[in-house]
Amino acid sequence: MSDAGIRITDVGVKFPSARGTVTAVENVNQHIPASSFVSIVGPSGCGKSTLLSVIAGLQKPTSGEVNVHGRTVTGPDKNIGFVFQEDSTLPWRDVEENVRFAMQMGGVSKQDQRRRAQDAIDLVGLTGFEHAYPATLSGGMRQRVALARTLAMEPNVVLMDEPFAALDQQTRIFLGAEVRQIWSRTHQTVVFVTHDIGEAILLSQQVWVMSYRPGTIIDVIDVDLPEERDASIVSTHEFNELNNRIWTSLQAESMRGFEQQEKSA
Ligand SMILES: Nc1ncnc2c1ncn2[C@@H]1O[C@H](COP(=O)(O)OP(=O)(O)OP(=O)(O)O)[C@@H](O)[C@H]1O
Ligand SMILES: [Mg+2]
Repeated sequence: MSDAGIRITDVGVKFPSARGTVTAVENVNQHIPASSFVSIVGPSGCGKSTLLSVIAGLQKPTSGEVNVHGRTVTGPDKNIGFVFQEDSTLPWRDVEENVRFAMQMGGVSKQDQRRRAQDAIDLVGLTGFEHAYPATLSGGMRQRVALARTLAMEPNVVLMDEPFAALDQQTRIFLGAEVRQIWSRTHQTVVFVTHDIGEAILLSQQVWVMSYRPGTIIDVIDVDLPEERDASIVSTHEFNELNNRIWTSLQAESMRGFEQQEKSA
């Protein structure tokens, strides 16, 4: 068994609730090789964010464990970066200060903070906006700031929880392509949660389909497409085959989730 990458062993998460215990995640066993890009798709409420939080050390699993590069995750770790769905920029800090924020907390020297912040700002395409405040930026640019803040920490693992969900389709496609380009340069291990099957296929080497509660991985699809991908790939036969396969798995689960929600309403 390889120690490199992320190893998820028997992970389960239960939450107490007014109606009894909710099993959010159950029996997840997966290995993500170092430097690979994996996406997770699944119906709303199936436990995707919960699983990502466990990998990040932000949520303790009820059972099982996660190992990152051979070390058990016991809490937040500066080698594991997280990009949240919601806008997490600090409105009173400009772009550069936002990007430096996590490094300031992490004890990086001032000189390194400046250099790493500038590199990350350049990497996400925000050069020239270093002293702009979040209120003067678009939603897409604010998500770039959040991405730069994570990248500046130089983590081995980058976890992204629907980072572009609030953005329009065009911006989403554009930022998705940039994330992939950044990944092809840095080769960090990336786990990306999305609702969008097309986005998952375009970005990833592997897509996991998660079942409705309790969330477990019911399908693992290798994306056997060329490394160099642009938007034209969506019209290829291979892309459509993958799309259909994932859609079929997901549709059954989404229906099941919908029916369960109706019953408990
Ligand atoms: N801190 C918590 N306390 C109690 N229940 C929780 C907590 N966090 C999540 N849950 C429950 O666990 C289940 C999975 O939630 P989670 O947020 O992981 O789903 P998700 O797949 O990310 O959904 P979405 O696609 O809507 O973001 C839900 O039923 C949710 O209500
Ligand atoms: Mg979520």
